[in-house]
Amino acid sequence: MSHPTPTILVFDSGVGGLSVFREIAKARPDARFAYAADDAGFPYGALSDAALVARVDTVLDALIAQIHPSLVVIACNTASTLALPGLRARYPDLPFVGTVPAVKPACAGSRSRRISILATPATVRRDYTASLIREFAGACDVNLVPSSRLAGLVEDDMGGRPVSDEAIRAEIAPCFVDEDGRRTDTVVLACTHYPLLLERLRTLAPWPVSWIDPAPAIARRVIQLLGEAPAHPAADAGGGAVRLISTLHPMNATRVSALLSRSVAVPEIMASPLAAAC
Ligand code: DGL
Repeated sequence: MSHPTPTILVFDSGVGGLSVFREIAKARPDARFAYAADDAGFPYGALSDAALVARVDTVLDALIAQIHPSLVVIACNTASTLALPGLRARYPDLPFVGTVPAVKPACAGSRSRRISILATPATVRRDYTASLIREFAGACDVNLVPSSRLAGLVEDDMGGRPVSDEAIRAEIAPCFVDEDGRRTDTVVLACTHYPLLLERLRTLAPWPVSWIDPAPAIARRVIQLLGEAPAHPAADAGGGAVRLISTLHPMNATRVSALLSRSVAVPEIMASPLAAAC
């Protein structure tokens, strides 16, 4: 029996959501995909709460009308921790999967009971983040580390612009705390951009830690909602196709396809009505 091919829309302010997308694409290689980067609004971490909600609503309204997705992944902690309830209320029949700081697995796995959460300044100050810490930190000391530059450094790296070790080191240094005989042993990557630099984070860390990338857990949630890839995918056109949509600069198809290990369509720019939301 064949099943209809789902269309999955993965959304972020920039290239960061690709760290989530690559896990989902591995789990459902048969699906149709659209990856949308609102790079005209980047960085979301610098927007006020009201501006961010207005922007995400406007961009997603336009994308949903154009793509008719079966499921939307908000592959952005900064947006998910604020805009998800509103989106779910406005689209009650469309499943949304969000990305929020992985406090629970980090605290459960920490042996030193000292963890850091590395995130955008906006995610760090969210009530949602505070409530995750209240609920799941237990006996762990949680060090919230706002980074205003790291997501931009990832954009530079993916855009082929050189990023120095010093610049990365300066952003991650506050994550490493050695106090009262206990050292940080776990760092939560609470911005989807950061796992794209994981190898360099490992190399530049002052001591080894577990870096928590939530992407595999998000991919599992997508599979819970959509089901596993069928043994006999539908023969309809478009299964496995990847559309790349952005709001300012076309995405670099060569780099994206290398990251995803699959070919992608010619990048598209989505213009109006986004200019109005800037
Ligand atoms: N990738 C986004 C996140 O997960 C944030 C980057 C930005 O500031 O736009 O939070």
